[in-house]
Amino acid sequence: MTRDTTWLKELLLRRQSGYSLEQPFYTSPLIFNYDMEQLFFREWLYVIPACQLPRHGSYFSYSLGPYRVLIVRGKDDTIRAFHNTCRHRGSMLCQQDQGQMARIVCPYHQWTYELDGRLLWARDMPSDFDLPQHGLKAINCRDLNGLVYICLADEAPDFEAFSQLAAPYLQVHDLQNARVAHTSTIVEKANWKLVWENNRECYHCESNHPSLCRSFPLDPEVAGVRPDGSTPERLQAHFTRCEDAGVPAQFRIDEDGQYRLARMPLQGNAVSYTLDGEAGVKRPLGHVGLPDAGTLMKFHYPSTWGHFLPDQSMTFRVTPIGPMETAVTTTWLVHKDAVEGVDYDLDRLTTVWLHTNDEDRVVVENNQRGIESPAYVPGPYSPEQESGVSQFVDWYCERLRTGQPMSQIAIHQS
Ligand code: FES
Ligand SMILES: [Fe+2]
Repeated sequence: MTRDTTWLKELLLRRQSGYSLEQPFYTSPLIFNYDMEQLFFREWLYVIPACQLPRHGSYFSYSLGPYRVLIVRGKDDTIRAFHNTCRHRGSMLCQQDQGQMARIVCPYHQWTYELDGRLLWARDMPSDFDLPQHGLKAINCRDLNGLVYICLADEAPDFEAFSQLAAPYLQVHDLQNARVAHTSTIVEKANWKLVWENNRECYHCESNHPSLCRSFPLDPEVAGVRPDGSTPERLQAHFTRCEDAGVPAQFRIDEDGQYRLARMPLQGNAVSYTLDGEAGVKRPLGHVGLPDAGTLMKFHYPSTWGHFLPDQSMTFRVTPIGPMETAVTTTWLVHKDAVEGVDYDLDRLTTVWLHTNDEDRVVVENNQRGIESPAYVPGPYSPEQESGVSQFVDWYCERLRTGQPMSQIAIHQS
C-alpha cells in the first residue's frame, strides 16, 4: 500500500539546518512509525554485551516495537538471534527477559528447538512432517569484540566497515572477559531523538550534572563534531599520547556520520566516572596501559553510545517505545574476576551515571513537554556547544530523505 507522505517530505524540505526539528518529529505517531521502519527495523542495533550470556543456553529476550527477539548462546559458543515466535502457531517462546535453558521449548504445545534454532521435536505431527522446514527464523546477529548487534532487516546493511574501524578501539577493553556488574533501565517520557539530542551535547551539563562534572570535561569539542572534521590541537595531543602508548584514540567518524569513535580526556586528574575521579574498579577490565587514557566514546546511531575506560566499560542502549516514550538501558561492565566488595563497591561504581541518567531523564522530559506546546517553534543550536546535536539531526533527516519510505513518496507523486 502506498502511503501519502508528501507532508513528511515537505517538513524535511523546509527544515532549517542548525535548528531543532518541527514539533511533529517529536510527537507524531506516523513519524515515529517511519523512524522505526526506516531506522530501527533496518539498521544494525546494539542489544547486550556478549558476557550477559555467560554459558551455553544463556538467553536474553528483547522487544522492539512489534518484534520479539531471542538472543541465545549455543552449545558451540556462538551467539545467535531468532524471532521469539514459535513456528507452530506463533506463541512467544521465552517469556522472561533473560535466563538459562537446555533447549528452547514452546510453553504452548512443547515444540522443542535446539539452541541453534533447529526444530527437534513436535508432538503428534504427521510422520511426513518436515522438521527442518520449521526451525526458528534467524535474525542477523554479530558479536563485535563482545558487543552483540542485531539487524532485523532480511538484507542487513554492511557491518564490516564499522566493525573494522571499531575492533581495534574495543580490543584493548577485552570485553570478552567482562561481567555485568549492574544494569539499569529507565523510561524517559520523550521521543527517542530528544534522548539522542541531549546525549550529543554537554551544553546542559554544568547546570544539570553535578556528579558527572567532577570527571567529565565541559569542553564542547568532546561531545561535538566540527563541521569540517578537523580536530582541535588539545584533543589531538591527547589522541597522540594514547596512540604512542598503543591505545587507539584518534577521532574517527564514518562518511555519513552514523558512528564515531574517539578516546576523550577526562576532567583534570580524573581517570574514571567516580565522584572522586579515581578508578572505580581495582582489577581493571582490559589492557589500556595508560591510566589517564580517558574514555573511549563511541556512538552508533540509532541504538547506542558507550564509554570504555581503563578500569571499566559502560554500554547504553536506546529503545523507542512510542512517539513520546523511550527506554535507556545502561550496563556497567567489570573484569569477570573482579569481586564486589573487594575490587569494587557497586554504589561507588554506579553512582555517577545513575545520577546522570536520571538528571538527563528530567531535562529530556521537560524538553518533550515544552515541544508539545502549540507555541513551540524550532530554535537555533549553539554552533559552539551543539555541533553534535546538529550532526545527529542532519544524519537523521538525511536517512529519512534517502530511505525507502521517501522512495514510496516519489512513486506516489509520479
Ligand atoms: S505455538 Fe508453540 S508449540 Fe504450539
Ligand atoms: Fe546529560
